[in-house]
Amino acid sequence: MFPDMFEIFNQGEQRDEQGSDDPSPSSINSAGRFVPDRFFSVSVGGSILIGDKPNVTKIAKFSESINRLSAEGYNFALVLGGGKICRSYQAAAKALGANNYFLDELGIMVTRINATLLTQSVDNAYPRVLTNVSFVKRVLDIGKIPILGGQIPGFTTDAVAALIAEQMQGNFINLSNVDGVYSSDPKKSRSAKFYPELSYERLISIIQVVESKPGQNLVLDLPAALVLKRSRIPSLFVNGNDLENFEAAVRGQEFRGTVVNEEISEGEAKTTGKIVPRRRHELEEEEEYKDPDPDEIKF
Ligand code: UTP
Repeated sequence: MFPDMFEIFNQGEQRDEQGSDDPSPSSINSAGRFVPDRFFSVSVGGSILIGDKPNVTKIAKFSESINRLSAEGYNFALVLGGGKICRSYQAAAKALGANNYFLDELGIMVTRINATLLTQSVDNAYPRVLTNVSFVKRVLDIGKIPILGGQIPGFTTDAVAALIAEQMQGNFINLSNVDGVYSSDPKKSRSAKFYPELSYERLISIIQVVESKPGQNLVLDLPAALVLKRSRIPSLFVNGNDLENFEAAVRGQEFRGTVVNEEISEGEAKTTGKIVPRRRHELEEEEEYKDPDPDEIKF
C-alpha cells in the first residue's frame, strides 16, 4: 500500500550522504581551517532564542556575538534547542494520542526548524541544518559554521552538542536562562546553591540528585554529562541572556558561570571562572603508546 515509503527514506539518506546536506570536500578553503583548542560546541537552550515564538532581536544579537568571535579566530558548532514552542507541539501531539517516540521525533523537527533560523543570521553559517553529526568536521574543514538541532529520539540537544565537542576534541558551552549549575532549580528554590566550579564526578552526582526529584529542571541532562565526563571535555555553563559574559567566557577572560574541567578537584570555589583549554597536542607528544587493555576501557 505504501510502495514508496522506504524509497523516500533512502532518498533522504542519500541526500545526506551526497547531496546538498553534505559539504563537498572539493570546496575546502584552507583559510577557514579550525583549531581544536579554539573550538566551542555551543548548546543554545531553546528558551534563550525561541521561547514561545522566535525572538528575532535575540537571534540577531546572538548571531552578532558569534560573528565577532569568529572574526577573532574562534570556531563554533551551534546546536539549538526546542523552547516552549516545542513543548506546545509535544503537548498537542500527546493530547492527540502520540507516544513518547513520536513526541521526540516532533521535538527534533522543531529544534531543526529553530536551527534553520540561525542559518539565516550567522554570517558564516553552513546554509543547511545538519541532520548528521558526522558531517560537522567536514563543514568546519570548509571554513563554515555547522548548525544543528536534535538528532536521535531519547536524546537532547545538550547531548548532541556534547558529542560534537567530543568528536572535535574541543570545548562545550551550555547557554541557558540561569547563571550556571545549581544544586536545584534556582527558578523554583531560593536555597539553590550556585557552583562556580565542579569536577565531572560532582556534576554527575548533582544531576542524579536533582533528576530524582520530580518537577526539577537542571541545565544539563545525565547522558550529556556522561559524554562530558568520559572524554574530560572542558565545559562551561553560562547565562545565554548575557552575551557580553558569553563572549568573555569564550575569550578566556573572567566570566560568571560554572566551569567543569579536568583541573578542578572537589571543594574549590571561586565566584568567577576561566576555561582551561585542553592541551591536546602537548598530551599527545608526552604520552607513549601502550597496548590497550580492553578491561580498562571505561565509558
Ligand atoms: P531539548 O530538550 O534539547 O530543547 O529538545 P531545549 O529547548 O534546549 O530544552 P530546555 O527546555 O530549554 O531545557 C527539545 C525536545 O526535542 C527532543 C526531545 O523530546 C526534547 O525534549 N529531542 C531533542 C530528541 O528527541 N532528540 C534530540 O537529539 C534532541
